[in-house]
Amino acid sequence: MLEEKRKKAMEGGGEERIKKQHEKGKLTARERIEKLLDEGTFVELGMFAESRATEFGMDKKRFPGDGVVTGYGTIDGRLVFVYAQDFTVLGGSLGEMHAEKITRVLDLALKNGAPVIGLNDSGGARIQEGVDSLKGYGEIFFRNTIASGVVPQIAVIMGPSAGGAVYSPAIMDFVVMVDKTSYMFITGPQVIKAVTGEDVDFESLGGARVHNEKSGNAHIFAKNEEEALHLVRALLSYLPSNNMEDPPFIDTGDPPDRMDYKLDKIIPKDPKKSYDVKDIINIIVDRGTFFEIHPLYAQNIVVGFARMGGKVVGIVANQPKFYAGVLDINASDKAARFVRFCDAFNIPIVTLVDVPGYMPGVAQEHGGIIRHGAKLLYAYSEATVPKITVILRKAYGGAYIAMGSKHLRADVVYAWPNAEIAVMGPEGAVNIVFRREIKEAENPEKRRQELINEYRDKFANPYVAASRLYVDDIIYPHETRPKIIQALNMLENKKEERPEKKHGNIPL
Ligand code: COA
Repeated sequence: MLEEKRKKAMEGGGEERIKKQHEKGKLTARERIEKLLDEGTFVELGMFAESRATEFGMDKKRFPGDGVVTGYGTIDGRLVFVYAQDFTVLGGSLGEMHAEKITRVLDLALKNGAPVIGLNDSGGARIQEGVDSLKGYGEIFFRNTIASGVVPQIAVIMGPSAGGAVYSPAIMDFVVMVDKTSYMFITGPQVIKAVTGEDVDFESLGGARVHNEKSGNAHIFAKNEEEALHLVRALLSYLPSNNMEDPPFIDTGDPPDRMDYKLDKIIPKDPKKSYDVKDIINIIVDRGTFFEIHPLYAQNIVVGFARMGGKVVGIVANQPKFYAGVLDINASDKAARFVRFCDAFNIPIVTLVDVPGYMPGVAQEHGGIIRHGAKLLYAYSEATVPKITVILRKAYGGAYIAMGSKHLRADVVYAWPNAEIAVMGPEGAVNIVFRREIKEAENPEKRRQELINEYRDKFANPYVAASRLYVDDIIYPHETRPKIIQALNMLENKKEERPEKKHGNIPL
């Protein structure tokens, strides 16, 4: 009897529906769990949970497990909790017991201090179960929120995620989406057509590319399901199991005192020329360890995890290759959320600064760059993990302050010799301050150039900031890696307190 019942549960929605799932290029819930976890470690919970709904013929549709496979296992030997929605059972739709199974796993994860991974593939709230399905979502959102900042939460979208279903991934820390077979939206193409008249298909409304590049709702783009699951495993290798632990140390074998003289030539002499800050990141971190988050979104800032001397760090770096590395609304949101994640999970932050300022423009102002930009200031100020900042080139104005400056309590700030720390760039400054003098000069162009050079000598260098202790030291680019690792070691036991409060009120 038990064997029979188990067999039925393992079959999900049956052979035909499994075949359909495979034809779409999708794995089944159980296959996904198997690929995600260390081999043979999955322990299932709630295999015999069943819906008790009776309306709309539901009394005749009983599936043991109720459309979601839940349980625990290990990844790289560390405990994780997992749930995988089974699209072959009632379209993976979320009914009362389906939700109850997910909430059980979230409760266990929270009590035992281990990450949760949700593999989403669902048509949303199970329509036949009405308000019980909505209650189910509410209970999940509540737990996602309570677990936020306590255990890492990763959502992988491997099929539809529609309506209320999107908000659990949205509250979780990282959203991975699979190209072509996953989509997320609040209302689908038909509803949009009816309400706004817009014509849009699933893919361009809420596909993996759109959410990774445009909306920023997804953090990681995967070519296929195997890659998505592999990336989750890789991501977890940088994260502690909970907020009371440090992230795992791994001896990468890359010498901490390794210097690279390529760094001395990496920034072009012409301050208007760009370069790829990822080249710098890849040189200074332990070889091959940079794991980028949000690589396709707001590319004017780069964020991601890496190891330095074996220790996990969160990197935040302006990217001169895109919009000169300016801070705009999206870049501020992206970096602020990353900084807060690192702070919540004891991951030191290494900031690489080359920023011409906040982005000018009516669209940015009306879009609320004031409050979005404020998030970054807030996130850095609030963070009490070790904060190490290296000013590579430009650090102008409010953006200088925002990018992990001493004033927001960076522990160690280094600057490269050609760094320019000033209220604004030489051209802009001279044109404002000396407008009249230039206009009245015999040769305005010559005078402008003289003033620019004078300004650059006086203000646009790191020595003034160093003389005031806003910069702790000026270092050669090739020394950057050893200097950061020294600082990380020095800050190993850093403790910094903030006043007791219920929570802050970050501008949203
Ligand atoms: N509630 C109940 N059953 C659902 C469901 C839901 N929210 N979503 C899907 N299903 C069922 C379908 O009725 C179908 O059952 P059947 O094969 O017995 O007829 C089965 O799941 C598979 O769905 P199907 O529509 O055939 O799959 P698809 O791949 O063609 O389309 C969706 C997938 C998600 C686009 C489509 O099912 C859909 O639009 N679902 C509703 C989405 C929604 O608005 N949900 C409410 C959000 S809160």
